[in-house]
Amino acid sequence: MNILITGGAGYIGSHVLKSFLKEGGHKITVIDNLSKGSIAAIHAIKSIGEFEFININLEDDLTKIFYNGKFEAVIHLAAFIEVLESTREPLKYYLNNTANVARILTYCKKFGVNKFIFSSTAAVYGEADTPEVSELSPTNPINPYGHSKLMSEQIIKDYASSNSSFKFAILRYFNVAGADEEGLIGQNYPNATHLIKVATQTALGKLENMKIFGNDYATKDGTCVRDYMHVNDLADAHLAALKYIDSNSSEIFNVGYGYGFSVKSVIEATKRVSGVDFKVINSSRRDGDPVALISNANKLRKLTGWTPKRDSLEFIIKTALEWEKRA
Ligand SMILES: NC(=O)c1ccc[n+]([C@@H]2O[C@H](COP(=O)([O-])OP(=O)(O)OC[C@H]3O[C@@H](n4cnc5c(N)ncnc54)[C@H](O)[C@@H]3O)[C@@H](O)[C@H]2O)c1
Repeated sequence: MNILITGGAGYIGSHVLKSFLKEGGHKITVIDNLSKGSIAAIHAIKSIGEFEFININLEDDLTKIFYNGKFEAVIHLAAFIEVLESTREPLKYYLNNTANVARILTYCKKFGVNKFIFSSTAAVYGEADTPEVSELSPTNPINPYGHSKLMSEQIIKDYASSNSSFKFAILRYFNVAGADEEGLIGQNYPNATHLIKVATQTALGKLENMKIFGNDYATKDGTCVRDYMHVNDLADAHLAALKYIDSNSSEIFNVGYGYGFSVKSVIEATKRVSGVDFKVINSSRRDGDPVALISNANKLRKLTGWTPKRDSLEFIIKTALEWEKRA
């Protein structure tokens, strides 16, 4: 299939790109402005297979790229991802994450691209009433980042209603972690706040200590619980989703493992895997952190046949640690 991947130099996009190249049989074009992405990731993936990389902004004129690419599918990952920044600079998020979805869809309309995979997020659920959320759970984002994605979902659904040939899969990712199992790529983002990234950086002495934000929640050990999934499994979910919509209807899918780990248990596991007893500081709760957020991802498994292959917390941490040693 002829596929355009936006944001393919980023953390998740580079793993998605690798999955598609490994599967083979696709002609892939990647666009990314490298604002957060890594050219080193692009170079590393060249060892897997051929693809075209174009350094360009989503806001630029993409006519030539769509014209030449003759794309059958777009996998749209490019976006800003920092929740805190989105509260300080909401317009930046609505422009890049939401307005640009309408722009990309306008190209899809013009050039007859009728398959669309969109990177959404568990943040669309906000502070859910139950720890486990399914695709039918109420959506109630609590920050501009979550809103920017939920609005994008609406734009995609509205466009699909106006064009019966157009099919989409909206993937609501839960907590993505780890690095490529073959060590080719990983999370390059310098000031990442993701728990497993920070824990491995602390284990390696890149950070002096790390904080636990709140240890008085109503959970077994008082810390928040999240559904952590390995980035290669998430990447493979894109293959499964694209195959699915190719011969079935449009769908929204949660992508997660369906069970969670507390912040404390992730830190303990990182200490075990790394063999380092690093310093952890108990800090106050952060605004807007739900006590627990776990996916019900049965729909993805049932409809697409996707099954995780790296669903062990230790494995996720091990790959993150190995990557961090080299980063
Ligand atoms: N990382 C997570 O845990 C997580 C969880 C849920 C959803 N997501 C979503 O997954 C997607 C990828 O996230 P990531 O963690 O890989 O982030 P990332 O920042 O590593 O990747 C995003 C990529 O998009 C590029 N980009 C951003 N704006 C652009 C623009 N205007 N023009 C061209 N390129 C642009 C960046 O340079 C970067 O390479 C995002 O849509 C994000 O919202 C991520």
